[in-house]
Order: sequence, then C-alpha cells, then structure tokens
Amino acid sequence: VDESRPPQTLSERTVKALADYILSGKVSKIVVMTGAGISTSAGIPDFRSPETGLYANLARLNLPYAEAVFDIAYFRENPEPFYALAHELYPGKFRPTVTHSFIRLLYDKGLLLKLFTQNIDCLEREAGVPDDKIVEAHGSFARQSCIDCTRPYPREDIERHINAKEIPRCPVCKGLVKPEIVFFGEQLPAAFFENRTLPMQADLCIVLGTSLSVQPFASLPGMIRESTPRLLINKERVGGLGSGTDDVLLLEDCDSGVRKLAKACGWLEELEALWSKT
Ligand code: APR
Ligand code: ZN
Repeated sequence: VDESRPPQTLSERTVKALADYILSGKVSKIVVMTGAGISTSAGIPDFRSPETGLYANLARLNLPYAEAVFDIAYFRENPEPFYALAHELYPGKFRPTVTHSFIRLLYDKGLLLKLFTQNIDCLEREAGVPDDKIVEAHGSFARQSCIDCTRPYPREDIERHINAKEIPRCPVCKGLVKPEIVFFGEQLPAAFFENRTLPMQADLCIVLGTSLSVQPFASLPGMIRESTPRLLINKERVGGLGSGTDDVLLLEDCDSGVRKLAKACGWLEELEALWSKT
C-alpha cells in the first residue's frame, strides 16, 4: 500500500495510514464539521437519535411536530416550548468532551483550517478552539436580540428570565427576545456563506457526530476536492460519506474514534492531558 495515499479499507490499517498521512507533513489544512453527536457524552441530547434524541422527547411540550420548537413562525405564536428547552440546554452546565479537546489539539498543532459546527452549546469554544477558527453555522446562545426591532438584549437579563422560566421581551417594542440560534425559516449567519468554499482548500476533512440531514450545512463535505480524504466518525453512516475513493469510516462513538486516531498519531497522552484540564 502506498502509505502516503489515504487508505480505502475500513480497518485499523486505515486509521494507521490516515495517521501516517497526517504526520507526513503533507497535512496542514484540516477542516472539521461537527454536529450534536459530539456533545451527547457531555450530557446534551442530540436531535434525531431514536430513543434519546431531543425530537423524540418533546412530547411534554405538545408541539404540532418536534422541529416546531426551533421554527421561527411557531416561536412567534408560542415561545413557551423553546424557552422550556432553553432552560435545559443553556450553556454553562456542561463540560466539553474529549472529542472537543481533539479539535483543540488539531488547532494547537497548527493543523486546523476551520471548524464548522452545527452545535449551539459553545463547547468547542470552552475547549479552547479560538473564535476565528469557528463557524457556528446555526448560531449559538452567545448573543440574543429582539426578533422585531433586532435590538441586542443583555445576557444577564435573558439568563434571569430563563432561570425563572419567564419569556423575555424587548423593553422598547415589547417584541420577543430570542438567542441568536438559527431557527428553521431563518437565514444562516453571514460567516457561514463567507466560509462555505473554504473546504476546497482542505487537505483533510473530518466529519464528527452529525446526521448531515439539514441543508445547507450538509453540503459542506461535498465541497471537498475529490483528492482530499474525508474521515467520518459517527455511530451511523451518513451523507454519502464512504462513497469517495479516499473516504474513511469509523462507525463508532466519537470519543472512542478520536482516541483511536490520536493514539495512531502518538498524541493520546497529550489529548488526555488537554482534556483533563478542560
Ligand atoms: N458518537 C458518534 N455518533 C453519535 C453519538 C456519539 N456519541 N451520538 C449521536 N451520534 C450520531 C447520531 O447517530 C446521528 O447520526 O450523531 C448524529 C446526530 O444527528 P442529529 O441528532 O441529527 O444532530 P445534528 O446532525 O447536529 O442535527 C443538525 O438539525 O435540528 C437541527 O439545528 C439543528 O444543528 C441541528 C441540525
Ligand atoms: Zn424590540
């Protein structure tokens, strides 16, 4: 096997060959794409896993359909379900996983070109990935504003309302306040469109913990050049990954998959040490 070329079989040799490729000096521009699957081991449910996913557990909010909780038109009519959920999901209570620390390790080694995340939990930031390396494609809880007059709303006020399970309203126009999470029916942030062709420059693409079921994010892995290897670490095969000649699939838990790759790269101790400090 030509060790410098990424492998095409799904075996330990695959991880070894991928690690050799990363260590070959030919890799310096890794693009990482993540979804809720990298935060489930932190205690944050993902959306579509059958039993444990958020959409399977919103019955108590008696929504017309599960995704209504993140639908802007529904939110205008009935903001209660979202705010009940925000109370559970609000950042600050969760610790990044070893998968978040693996992405930070790639940055520390000067290998991270950009992280595109669909997650709103800000755990990549908390793991130490710098702001200029992150594209939060679906926004985040980092900022909040009035959905009518778009005035920014103070963080401490929304936190107080969320803790008190009250609905925050704009003091000026009485409009509903909403964290800058991208709801269904809303535009993605400009940063997504400004960076969406960046994957074409990548020399390795790593997709972690996502069903790749929501556009336009799901189109990102397809932006990669044909010659660029793509690694999927996910419990299930998604998004046509595995069909490319240089695709590698680790169909397993993200935390065990990144540890396997880190070990093959000789980085496992460094990764564990980094995570233990997070
Ligand atoms: N390890 C590996 N894979 C996992 C793990 C884990 N610990 N936990 C879950 N997964 C996988 C699931 O099998 C699934 O394929 O991660 C994927 C999670 O998919 P979704 O729940 O659909 O989450 P995501 O892809 O992030 O959803 C995309 O949908 O509702 C919108 O805006 C929301 O950003 C979200 C978008
Ligand atoms: Zn307002």
